Amino acid sequence: MINLGKKVIYQIYPKSFYDSNGDGIGDLRGIIQKIDYIKKLHVDMIWFNPFFVSPQHDNGYDVADYCKIDPRFGSMQDFEELVAKLKEINVGVMLDMVLNHCSTEHKWFKKALAGDPKYRKFFYLRKAKADGSLPTNWRSKFGGPAWAKFGNTDYYYLHLYDPSQADLDWHNPEVRKAVFAVVNFWRNKGVQGFRFDVINVTGKAKKLLDATDPTTEKSLYTDTPVVHQYLKELNAASFGQDPDSITVGEMSSTSIANSIAYSKPDEHELSMVFSFHHLKVDYRDGNKWTKEPVDFMKLKAIFTAWQEKMDQGGGWNALFWNNHDQSVALNRFGDPGKYRLQSAEMLATAIQLMRGTPYIYMGEELGMIDPAYTSIKDYVDVETLNAYHELRKQGLSAAAAFDIIHAKSRDNARTPMHWDSGKYAGFSQVKPWLMPTNQDEINVAAELKHGEIFNYYQKLIKLRKTEELISDGHIKMFLQKDPQVLAYERFLDNKTEKLLVFANFYGQEHTVTLPKQYQEQAGTVLISNYHKKDFTLTAALKLVPYEALAIKI
Ligand code: NOJ
Repeated sequence: MINLGKKVIYQIYPKSFYDSNGDGIGDLRGIIQKIDYIKKLHVDMIWFNPFFVSPQHDNGYDVADYCKIDPRFGSMQDFEELVAKLKEINVGVMLDMVLNHCSTEHKWFKKALAGDPKYRKFFYLRKAKADGSLPTNWRSKFGGPAWAKFGNTDYYYLHLYDPSQADLDWHNPEVRKAVFAVVNFWRNKGVQGFRFDVINVTGKAKKLLDATDPTTEKSLYTDTPVVHQYLKELNAASFGQDPDSITVGEMSSTSIANSIAYSKPDEHELSMVFSFHHLKVDYRDGNKWTKEPVDFMKLKAIFTAWQEKMDQGGGWNALFWNNHDQSVALNRFGDPGKYRLQSAEMLATAIQLMRGTPYIYMGEELGMIDPAYTSIKDYVDVETLNAYHELRKQGLSAAAAFDIIHAKSRDNARTPMHWDSGKYAGFSQVKPWLMPTNQDEINVAAELKHGEIFNYYQKLIKLRKTEELISDGHIKMFLQKDPQVLAYERFLDNKTEKLLVFANFYGQEHTVTLPKQYQEQAGTVLISNYHKKDFTLTAALKLVPYEALAIKI
């Protein structure tokens, strides 16, 4: 069986990786051209965000044909070549399966609109309530109501996301059969990795009811017991037949108990889960569109619970700070200025040495930071633009609304990869679909020549493959009350060796008092962002700004 603890996954946002044909949009041939770069990292698999046929209302998460490559990104031949070239360097492919909803341009939705009874049953079509109001009071996750008029009929269709993304009714076995076939289509092309987009919202209640309170609305369609049944079916009908497959479910507002069940091998559901609680510690009252400092104690409590309880329950976490939906972690949890290098390496150490499978988002290995945009016109993301208008409607000034967008927009992560310091960051010959801004200092060419972060990532990846404590060890947090340092121990059953990891999340020096059992132990430094040499631990351990240290005792 695959040892998930030895795997590292790299995420590529194809639209922004490399433009090979000069249209301002990244493409599959662009990725092929950059394989030598990818090879240097020694990752095991690449998760690609969707490049299927799509009108791109939500950047490809609105799929109009699951089994065709969008010509913007290339052809099926390009894809096959990409898979083959990656295989030559032992890198697998993970595709993004957006099966909770499809584009309203998909033939299923079009047939439903044309009145075909089979396809009408693919969607949640409901009439207005007797008083004329929408079928339920649910809100779309991108703002506004979750229902839109179904053509020229008396019906509305459900869309938990953009109106161009119609939710598929998984209660209908025909829907499940159709989406499982999509997974098998790609398996037949040699794909062994699958990321399932918002898969835990596929189990809406049979009877859709109004939420009595907005804070409990999500529970009406999230993590319901039937999702486990669907995942078991999906597993048996597709990737579960391949012992080398790797799968991850993107779990919206999930719980630890459910995540254990989603990812425990005996349950035959998925290999691991993405959960997001640790990335909501700079939200005010659970609202993303606010600007708050990180609540570090909350972050620690969340890591403690998710790491220790998933370990005890036999579940498996995907480990990550960044992805295409998050503004850059370095801006949120580190210091993108004075301590950019140190804090980038500290964050990487803190997350990658935990128990789970690390995911590295393209550019993270360079210490890329949020773009320095100055106007709302610089942004294109649908969620961002909706949020901006919503904030303005709530009475915020243009400057105040912009300030929040600037800190939280998903476009922060989606800017083109910085290959060099050129006008378009070496990403394209022409003006890209989204502009790069701070490529002067931060880019691949400079990083490979005299940078440190890339090498540090290489080292972390190597450690995961060579150190059993990292790949297979249990985890226990310590220094729980310390307001500045995240600290944990990795250990194996029946072995005395331990790995201690320390990460100072602040720009101030800080001294911690070590628990008795670690004192006077001779330590071997596995990695240190301040080039520390082996030393014997004493009662006090001083950590300089954003210092990270992994020491084996
Ligand atoms: C999660 C994806 O990561 C995000 O980019 C997308 O907008 C939503 N799911 C809807 O598909």
